[in-house]
Amino acid sequence: MSVRLGVMASGRGSNFLAIQSEIEQATLDAEIALLISDRSNAPALKQAEKRHVPAKTFPYDKSDRAAFEKSAGDAIDAAGCDYIVLAGFMRILTPYFIERFSGRILNIHPSLLPSFKGLHPQRQALEAGVKFSGCTVHLVTTDLDDGPILAQAVVPVLDDDTEESLSTRILKQEHRLYAEAIRGLSSK
Ligand code: GAR
Repeated sequence: MSVRLGVMASGRGSNFLAIQSEIEQATLDAEIALLISDRSNAPALKQAEKRHVPAKTFPYDKSDRAAFEKSAGDAIDAAGCDYIVLAGFMRILTPYFIERFSGRILNIHPSLLPSFKGLHPQRQALEAGVKFSGCTVHLVTTDLDDGPILAQAVVPVLDDDTEESLSTRILKQEHRLYAEAIRGLSSK
């Protein structure tokens, strides 16, 4: 059965686009019912408009995170979303939001978790000298970049890699992996 998704994105939105493309090609039986951004100038919003995906922006005020989360959560419920897909959403969600949608929030992180949590995971991988890195799709819990792992993809780290070249190699896998993980979900 088709899964209804609410996608949350702060920036470029290439993971959002990759998921939407699989939906349009009918290789993923899902619908993005709503794209939510915390930034009114996020390129992801323009992409949503081009693809006719409903989108909303809710301003994010660090001193009142509850306001953003209440508005975003209510919009997600109103759109009837089964799951929330974090696709480059660069804000830390509070336990209020995570518990409201417990077991229904997915995140993608560009490292092989539990290694290299937090910011700049590709840089962290290069600095650690690992020979392989990759990306992870996991369920979100109240611990940062933690929670049950749904899918992982591995890429080699090459001797001459820069943060940018490694990020590009990982991102290619992210675009395939997110849809694969969503295919493994069932709707309510
Ligand atoms: C992706 O590489 C994603 O894994 C990362 O941000 C990028 C967003 O790209 N997310 C995180 O680091 C979350 N901790 P996109 O906007 O093109 O999808």
